[in-house]
Amino acid sequence: MGKIEGIFIQNYGSLRDITLGRTYTHQEQPPLKNMTTIIGPSGNGKSTIADVFGFIADCLDSDVEAACDAGNRGGFEQIRSQGETDPIKFELYYRESNNARPITYEVSIDLDRAGRPFVKEERLRQRVEAKGRPRSFLRLQNGSGFAYEGNFGGRDDDTGVSDGVQVPVTLSDNRKLGVVTLGAMKQYTRIEKFLKFLRSWYLCYFTPDAARKIQTSAPQPYLDRVGSNLNNVAQYMYRENKNEFVKILKDIQDKLPGITRIEPLKMPNGQIVLQFWEKGFESPFFTQKMSDGTLKLFAYYLLLHESNPRQLVFIEEPENGLYHHYLADLAEEMKKNVGRGFSKQLFVTTHSPFFVNALSPEEVWVLRKEADGFSVAQRVSDYPFVNELTEQGVVVGDLWYDKYFG
Ligand SMILES: Nc1ncnc2c1ncn2[C@@H]1O[C@H](COP(=O)(O)OP(=O)(O)O)[C@@H](O)[C@H]1O
Ligand SMILES: [Mg+2]
Repeated sequence: MGKIEGIFIQNYGSLRDITLGRTYTHQEQPPLKNMTTIIGPSGNGKSTIADVFGFIADCLDSDVEAACDAGNRGGFEQIRSQGETDPIKFELYYRESNNARPITYEVSIDLDRAGRPFVKEERLRQRVEAKGRPRSFLRLQNGSGFAYEGNFGGRDDDTGVSDGVQVPVTLSDNRKLGVVTLGAMKQYTRIEKFLKFLRSWYLCYFTPDAARKIQTSAPQPYLDRVGSNLNNVAQYMYRENKNEFVKILKDIQDKLPGITRIEPLKMPNGQIVLQFWEKGFESPFFTQKMSDGTLKLFAYYLLLHESNPRQLVFIEEPENGLYHHYLADLAEEMKKNVGRGFSKQLFVTTHSPFFVNALSPEEVWVLRKEADGFSVAQRVSDYPFVNELTEQGVVVGDLWYDKYFG
């Protein structure tokens, strides 16, 4: 359980200095909503925000050097904001539940003398009392420092005041994150929990063609980034709780236009294939024959029905390949799905006013570029007139289309 109330990004591509929501240094800002949608013209940094989450996830899976080189990133020098010499830095302001004190996670990545990326600093801190000063329970500089065991304790880095069980730490590889190494150990209770949260992120780059590929039979609990294991997830859900899965399919079938019924079919090798009945036809079609739009919607709705949901899901441009009339419903369902609690958070980038029409001004952020080429972010509710107009019933996507912002 838990969510990010805010994120601060420094020197990552066009995001030279961006804050979304509440962070340690921006306490006055309202926290991010469970649904955060990012809009703005092409080239203004939306995918770069998605990539920050992808980059952090890649750092967890391997190390910062490999993450810099992964995908299309092209290495540290390509990622760091042009003209900057300071490290790339992220700050996540994380809260586990309503009554938990927020945790600040800071990490900065720089090049060493040999031009190799390494983790320059890493820190996790939390306040002891509600209004007190934060105490670090993980602090590493160039791979050495300390961590605190258990649920309590930490050090005030300014005054040196500390309590709890401090353990000196030296990592053998300064390209690896301390949260990964220490979070693997039971005694670092808070680090372990935080790592679990980071690991539960899901970046969705769903491509219908990937979902059409026939996979080998093997149940898998979660959809992968492109959705290539749709049938494996179906197999997993069928095995874990067949009745529940059939119920979920019924729920989804009502949301897919033109589809009257979806049923799983178990093959002799244990694989599950999905049968879709379309209006007007007697026999079902299999996944491979479904339209891009139907497959995408199906995958999104399946994602929203995960039984053990991933805490943070990032979806880039869900509107691609979808008929515009389906988008408001999809946005509504996503909002309903994330609710108001601490179990799930959704980030979406979009170019669709139809999608945005289902959202409130606090849920939408605009990215635009300043004359210097770097992005700035602003919450739609902070633009003039917007709140007054939405209170009168005007919808956010229409205001966007009419250029009140964006
Ligand atoms: N190292 C960098 N420093 C500054 N800007 C960068 C850097 N790398 C890429 N960019 C800029 O960031 C932008 C990337 O935009 P992107 O996130 O793909 O936008 P969107 O998804 O909103 O269309 C491009 O305008 C590109 O020129
Ligand atoms: Mg983009």
